Amino acid sequence: MRMLVTGGAGFIGSHFVRQTLSGGYPGLGCDEVVVLDKLTYAGNLSSLSPVLDDPRLRFAQGDVCDRETVAEMVRGVSLIVHFAAETHVDRSIADGGDFVRSNVLGTHTVLDAALEAGVDKVVLVSTDEVYGSLSEGSAAEDRPLAPNSPYAASKAASDHFARAYHRTFGLDTCITRCSNNYGPYQFPEKLVPLFITRLLDGLTVPLYGDGRHVREWVHVDDHCRGIALVAERGSPGATYNIGGDTELSNVRMAGTLVSQLGLDESLVRFVEDRQGHDRRYSLDDSRIRRELGYRPSVPFEEGIESTIRWYTENRSWWEPLRAPAHRDLLGTSAER
Ligand code: NAD
Ligand code: DAU
Repeated sequence: MRMLVTGGAGFIGSHFVRQTLSGGYPGLGCDEVVVLDKLTYAGNLSSLSPVLDDPRLRFAQGDVCDRETVAEMVRGVSLIVHFAAETHVDRSIADGGDFVRSNVLGTHTVLDAALEAGVDKVVLVSTDEVYGSLSEGSAAEDRPLAPNSPYAASKAASDHFARAYHRTFGLDTCITRCSNNYGPYQFPEKLVPLFITRLLDGLTVPLYGDGRHVREWVHVDDHCRGIALVAERGSPGATYNIGGDTELSNVRMAGTLVSQLGLDESLVRFVEDRQGHDRRYSLDDSRIRRELGYRPSVPFEEGIESTIRWYTENRSWWEPLRAPAHRDLLGTSAER
């Protein structure tokens, strides 16, 4: 079976590809992986280096908005796992244009190509941010969408297209909505890798607002196992939340990182809040647990420790990402 993975050179997509090719998802029965990735600032071929020489992998640099490229890539493909997207909320606040293009037009292009080529199934990788901020309780899949950032709005639109292609054309689409991921190979703009890499360099870390915002954390390996289960056995047209069991305020997360690195809490600086900053996300993921047997298996303490170790031992992966081209955004948030 041939699978197309879009965004397979990003943080989560590359984990999914590495795991697939090392036999992590035998139920998928996948023996050929095609990766289509534009290699934006967030895409990195070196994240695929452990499997780049694998003859079952084909990598193509290209844009999911480009109809001809996508049509060529889906030829002979049975399953598409669609990760490709612009993903950083702060960037979407600075300029949402690329988010509309890659996340909305890109998904529409992938769905059209899938329909035309007779692809068996498309899994759209989405996010808990589409439900908006929750003051209490947890969001189940039938909760009305209320995205608050331009990023979340583009992902919600993308979800609607996947749903509509199932309802209108009968295309077998599934949507997964996951909470905040952490793990190796994450671009050092997101909270966990930004803080770890700055702390490793002896720099301060910027906590937005009062730091009491709450996120639900899941190790990337658990998220990808959830996606594989949905790809294998998810019901056509269904949406599955994928959660991680660990809700933490940002101030607790910052404290954990500082103390695991044996550093002083004075390195945490409170800075101006993110515009429209969602206070809390929380997922009710009982559907995927009940129907597909999903359960997060990486305890938070172990996952965060191994993630810190990975960044400590893999400076050669992240140091080039802090080169001048990326300083604009990283620098700004660091100075605030
Ligand atoms: P990432 O930013 O690390 O990687 C995104 C990848 O997509 C990059 O390799 C980039 O080059 C590629 N890409 C972007 N635009 C493209 C385009 N137009 N054409 C082709 N490739 C393009 O993102 P990530 O954290 O790995 O997230 C992957 C998916 O998972 C996204 O859809 C995101 O919304 C979703 N998600 C992420 C999280 C999280 O915590 N990171 C949580 C839930 C859902
Ligand atoms: O919830 C899933 C989402 O998680 C994904 O869909 C997104 O692609 C991913 O980027 C992530 O979004 P967040 O905005 O939650 O992640 P981020 O790492 O940017 O921020 C996590 C929390 O930490 C958030 O409350 C903002 C805060 N923060 C972030 C940064 C970068 C800080 O306090 N300081 C910072 O420098």
